[in-house]
Amino acid sequence: MNICIIGSGYVGLVTGACFADLGNDVICVDNDKNKIKALKAGVIPIYEPGLEELVKRNRKEGRLFFGTSIKEGVKKSEVIFIAVGTPSKDDGDADLTFVEHVSREIAAAMTSYRLIVEKSTVPVNTGEWVEHTIKVFNRRNVKFDVASNPEFLKEGSAIEDFMHPDRIVLGVKSKKAAGILSELYKPLKAPIVVTDIKSAEIIKHASNSFLAAKISFINAISDICDKVGADIVEVARGVGLDKRIGREFLNAGLGFGGSCFPKDLAAFIHIAEKIGYDFGLLKEVQKINDYQKRLIVRKIEGLVWNLPKKTIGVLGLSFKPDTDDIRSAPALDIISMLIKEGADIKVYDPAAMKKAKAVLGKQVKFCRDAYEAARSSDCLLVATEWNEFKELDFKKIKRLMRQPIIVDGRNIYDPSEMKKLGFAYVGIGRK
Ligand code: UDX
Repeated sequence: MNICIIGSGYVGLVTGACFADLGNDVICVDNDKNKIKALKAGVIPIYEPGLEELVKRNRKEGRLFFGTSIKEGVKKSEVIFIAVGTPSKDDGDADLTFVEHVSREIAAAMTSYRLIVEKSTVPVNTGEWVEHTIKVFNRRNVKFDVASNPEFLKEGSAIEDFMHPDRIVLGVKSKKAAGILSELYKPLKAPIVVTDIKSAEIIKHASNSFLAAKISFINAISDICDKVGADIVEVARGVGLDKRIGREFLNAGLGFGGSCFPKDLAAFIHIAEKIGYDFGLLKEVQKINDYQKRLIVRKIEGLVWNLPKKTIGVLGLSFKPDTDDIRSAPALDIISMLIKEGADIKVYDPAAMKKAKAVLGKQVKFCRDAYEAARSSDCLLVATEWNEFKELDFKKIKRLMRQPIIVDGRNIYDPSEMKKLGFAYVGIGRK
């Protein structure tokens, strides 16, 4: 099929590259001229394992193109995916200005039947607005369909998630739209849920909120474990083996971050409020997540006594491993709390240093590696569970530190081993 993807961010770029790899002709459009220029030169603006090779291969084989013109993309493609950003406004509401703008441009460029598919995470009813907007600006009265096809890929495993999804959700209004999208996704051999547009939009809200709730739930339990002397890792294993619950997303830690969970949660709470439902459950999920970050600061303080002038080495800045993404990264919130309380901060991350420098500037000392971050530190905080932090030379770390204290915000170490090595060690809900 000929496909146009509008918006070359995380979702857009991965979707475009994967559809091309499945044998379709794909044009990725973005209004950022520099980004498109870079992409044409083979430079990928995001850190995502496997994406660069995928883009290169499909460009070489003539299936993947980049451009800045929506008009051109719409002219060449029967199926058009909208994958532009939907940032949060101050009140949590999603800003849909880009979605509206793109819808108008698509409408103006259509000359024959087009299927317009909403892929960005958007509030329920956006499909209706997109349809309405296209109808108004569809001067040639061309036939079209609107569909919702939420994306569930995770950063760091985006290609694998796209190619092997648990399910594909298609929110459609016509048999024709359902047919085209089912055909497009057929090679993935995943279960396809065909439903109406609003239900598809709610599926995305509900999935992300449920996963965030699962994390906050286990984080709340970890606090109870801390208080009674139980071990959250054992508890999560025992709970997660129940198939109805499942072990995934039951890792206690210093809170969830990223470009999706915090934003989508706020948006869903806002949508619910607008339609007269007070989603107290999800507000509590947010509250627990904020508490986890403050808890880390208190745990550090509990070990170093006074924070002013203490040096804290922070290992990991990205919101999770295998990405350089620092959007809503818990590490950054914790660092800013520690700085406010007078601590000196040294940081190291295997991938996110460049992005972090742009945000943290001179407030912290950027280190070459974990050992440099440990040197003369009073406490080492693990904020992101990068694999390389699991295999550090702890004898060396201990020699380098001013005080051998580790706060493990991701529970990657064995508490008894750490204690045996001579560290004062505190995890999240660990015995
Ligand atoms: C998420 C959803 O998983 C994905 O389906 C959706 O399309 C986009 O949002 P992503 O933001 O890439 O994906 O990351 P994810 O792996 O879900 O992790 C989100 C946050 O939760 C991270 O900060 C991670 O560290 C945290 N997390 C995850 C936990 O604290 N504990 C867990 O058990 C799992």
